[in-house]
Amino acid sequence: MASILSRPRPEPDWDLVEKRNSIERLKREKFPLDIRDELPELIARGYEAVSEEDIVRLNWWGLTHDKPKVGTFMVRIKVPGGLITPERLRAVGRIARTWGRDEIELTTRQGVQLHWVRLEELPTVLAEIEAAGLTTVGGEGDTVRNITGCPVAGIDPAEVFDVRPVIEQAARFFYGNREYSNLPRKHKYTISACPAQCNAPEIHDVALIAVLKDGRPGFAVRVGGGLSATPRLARDLGVFVPVEEAIEVLRAITDVWQHNRRYRLSRAKARIKFMVDDYGPEGMRALVEERLGRRLEDGQAPAPVGPADHLGRHPQKQPGYVYMGFPVPMGWMTGRQMQQVADLVEAVGGDIRLTREQNFLVGFVPEDRADWLAAEMAKIGFPLDRHKLYGTSTACTSHQFCNYSVAETKEKLKEIIERLEARFGRAVEGLTIYMDGCPHACAHHWVGDIGLQGTTTHGPDGGKIEAYDVVL
Ligand code: HEM
Ligand code: SF4
Repeated sequence: MASILSRPRPEPDWDLVEKRNSIERLKREKFPLDIRDELPELIARGYEAVSEEDIVRLNWWGLTHDKPKVGTFMVRIKVPGGLITPERLRAVGRIARTWGRDEIELTTRQGVQLHWVRLEELPTVLAEIEAAGLTTVGGEGDTVRNITGCPVAGIDPAEVFDVRPVIEQAARFFYGNREYSNLPRKHKYTISACPAQCNAPEIHDVALIAVLKDGRPGFAVRVGGGLSATPRLARDLGVFVPVEEAIEVLRAITDVWQHNRRYRLSRAKARIKFMVDDYGPEGMRALVEERLGRRLEDGQAPAPVGPADHLGRHPQKQPGYVYMGFPVPMGWMTGRQMQQVADLVEAVGGDIRLTREQNFLVGFVPEDRADWLAAEMAKIGFPLDRHKLYGTSTACTSHQFCNYSVAETKEKLKEIIERLEARFGRAVEGLTIYMDGCPHACAHHWVGDIGLQGTTTHGPDGGKIEAYDVVL
């Protein structure tokens, strides 16, 4: 096999990397995951005395300022595949009520975010999250982020096969793994078998898409997707990976990127999408094969088929059960609501699945309990038949907590949906409106039917006003 690795490409040495990139420097000076052990010391010194570098290192535990210097933190909890038990959901609700002012956001990567947690409360809050069997490790920072998937994994009658064991295995291997916690930049995997591809493999760094080859279960692979200010759609690597080789191939793809120092010089050019730009999918495949020491089988990523919102009531592949998708406006829940949802789901013996569009689904609802569950959910603020736009639209965190925000999103989205509902009624159901407060695209505005990106412009009196760029 011709070696692409040996192509003469200038690779900078570590000195140059650290000179150019302050984040690489701070990672070298102190491994960011180790900051957890220093929390007692940081607390003793007080919030104001925590260095900017240590604030960045705290990202590796899923912790970010609720806007700089307000003294409280956002806590991002990872939920692999968005799959969570009622017990765990109840625990998150309790934690939010106790330490997070009863406010919760469901995220566009199937996780959960709390806010308002004070520095001195972090050790307890992290311990409580872990006691519930969840983790924040690698929720932010240059790590393998929450591994997403299709929320109806294991219950969708149309799925290729059940990928839940692969998601679990990948999460066990990559979350908190030091070998994968000093990547050039954040790294997002998604693994699914949903023909509708509701998990948006095209915008992930690495996507495993379930396929069958000669009756064997495995994955097609797409690499190099990502949004932010330079959006890219993931490219088809042209391979078939048998299911038992999934973790090995994820490692190999991530390794060829993380061990190339070229992608550490500039944070803005560090994501794997830039490497895919440089090498193309064929070049990436050759590098991965070289790393693995063998050729991969040929394959092709399938195109998405069918509707992707999973809202409302649907039969499961298990006879006698249905799953139900409840819209959560703007992804907002209270801790109390989360506890109530957990109680209701437990009462019917079901499970919970968080979605990319900031909603939740309940799986394994016995058919004869579905009406009861719908009625009870409506009582706590989650009617099943709420206008679908509330479920198919997303908004990023924006003004309240995020320092990058230049235009309001969640409140504004609510206003937009109310107007559309009043004017067009059910005719606009199915539309997706994704709204971001800045180009980072946390709510994926690039890929909505209507995408709104916050910006500013001059108002009639010449003053600065909030505005939106529209992407169709
Ligand atoms: C404190 C508030 C936040 C800050 C400071 C922040 C920061 C950023 C930055 C800098 C990027 C662009 C990085 C890049 O792709 O190169 C980004 C992208 C992203 N963030 Fe956030 N974020 C915040 C909140 C959120 C929230 C609430 C969510 C989930 C609801 C989220 C999920 C994402 C996602 C999905 C992307 C998309 C990028 C991709 O897939 O390529 N972030 N964020
Ligand atoms: S899109 Fe921008 S404004 Fe919105 S949460 Fe992300 S970084 Fe903040």
